[in-house]
Amino acid sequence: MTKAPQQRAVINLARGVLISAFWASFVNPANAQIFTHDRSVKALTHLQSGLSAEQEELFFLGRSFANVPWVEAPAATTARDGLGPLFNANTCVACHTKNGAGGGYGPQGEAPRSSVVQLHKYDSQQQIWGSDPVYGPQISVNGNRDVPFEGAYHIVWQAAAHDSRLRYPTPTFSQLNYGPLHTDTHTQLMRAPALTGLGLLEQIPDAQIYAQADPQDSNGDGISGRTQMVWSYATQSQKLGRFGWKNTTASVIDQSAKAAHLDMGLSNPLFTEENCTPTQTECNQAFRSETLDLPAQRLQAIAIYLSNLKIPKPDGKHTQGKVVFNQLGCQNCHSNTYTLSNGQALPAYTDLLLHDMGEALQSKGPLAREWRTAPLWGLGLNQHQQPPAYLHDGRAKNLTEAILWHDGEAQSSREAFNLLPLAKQQQLLAFLGSL
Ligand code: HEC
Ligand code: HEC
Repeated sequence: MTKAPQQRAVINLARGVLISAFWASFVNPANAQIFTHDRSVKALTHLQSGLSAEQEELFFLGRSFANVPWVEAPAATTARDGLGPLFNANTCVACHTKNGAGGGYGPQGEAPRSSVVQLHKYDSQQQIWGSDPVYGPQISVNGNRDVPFEGAYHIVWQAAAHDSRLRYPTPTFSQLNYGPLHTDTHTQLMRAPALTGLGLLEQIPDAQIYAQADPQDSNGDGISGRTQMVWSYATQSQKLGRFGWKNTTASVIDQSAKAAHLDMGLSNPLFTEENCTPTQTECNQAFRSETLDLPAQRLQAIAIYLSNLKIPKPDGKHTQGKVVFNQLGCQNCHSNTYTLSNGQALPAYTDLLLHDMGEALQSKGPLAREWRTAPLWGLGLNQHQQPPAYLHDGRAKNLTEAILWHDGEAQSSREAFNLLPLAKQQQLLAFLGSL
């Protein structure tokens, strides 16, 4: 029932081209109303104004495909079958609840289901990072009927070297159904980020991002900031990385296709294969339909949905806190200088660049110490999570801890925060909570 690899590659390329041409005409019209005053749990679910009837129709189609649970194929509901054979969750919003970020750890320190464990193995011959030969790039905690899930893990907590008040999580496997990981494979926990303003971030002209980068720190302010080119499956070309905690994906449609493939096991025009490695027999032999689980128009609809959501409007009442934010140098990375080509300013509080965040935030995979400046718009909505969590693996329980984990290029900001009188710290935290 499976197609020959060559045949699939042709489909892949043809659909990839189709998508990029079709895609360009569909993001955020210039006159769109992009802000919402809603601060409720539904704040990130509102449609921007200014879309054509056809775009709106795709928006609502995308909303349904991002929200409704997928099921294993074959099933009566062919539009939504094709989940797995290996997967983590059955809908996008299982992890990005109401399009918001994944929450924190349970009372015993258990990991939330919205976080994933990524796997990285260095290939010393080719000198590149790859994935685990048996488990691939990410552990699937679920499998379809007759397909063993890949693994189950628990969290071990360790104290931070630089501050004994802080703890960080490491996943430890209690079950691995396809044998041990490769001895050189490293694990990396990643929390689901909020899906705030994605279409707007994608529209920032490349030149503005390059203008803010300073890879050699030539202005000597201790802050470098680096761009990274990544392969875009949608355009079949190298593009500036903008999404993911380490800027590993170029566009909303690329990230949506990757998520469909890796997190849910849905084949789609950009990832036509199922998420099985060659030695995973049950996975390779599992039923698969002749057609793609998530065909081009539906993938595109999901990306259009995510690209045209409103962003929360800050209440603007916390001017003192904003002064503190600037005094501590937070805006050196969490900057607010980007505008769209129509001149619309974006209060995203990110330069979208990779920064060396030091030993405290070091991971063991590629770009070990480097992380993309997390956008802070919508940060206050994390209060809806149970419990709230911050940073790439949700290690920080509150905003103070998030700041105390800043290291490397942000060490001086952290130290300045530590020296602030309590009242000033509280002004800063109130400002962050109002975003
Ligand atoms: C099992 C949990 C899970 C599921 C299901 C999931 N995601 Fe994600 N998502 C994540 C994690 C974790 C990341 C961060 C990955 C990284 O940085 O490497 C992420 C990142 C993203 C991003 C990048 C956001 C940013 O600010 O950079 C987008 C867009 C996204 N997901 C869309 C989707 C879509 C669309 C679906 C459904 C097709 C989906 N996700 C399903 C966990 C999930
Ligand atoms: C050198 C650049 C840099 C500076 C300076 C900096 N940050 Fe950050 N910030 C980052 C990066 C990179 C991340 C993501 C790190 C991670 O997830 O591991 C981040 C994450 C955060 C987060 C967590 C966001 C989330 O969604 O979980 C908060 C809150 C934050 N920063 C606030 C601040 C404040 C307040 C200051 C000033 C005291 C500051 N930052 C200074 C780069 C910086």
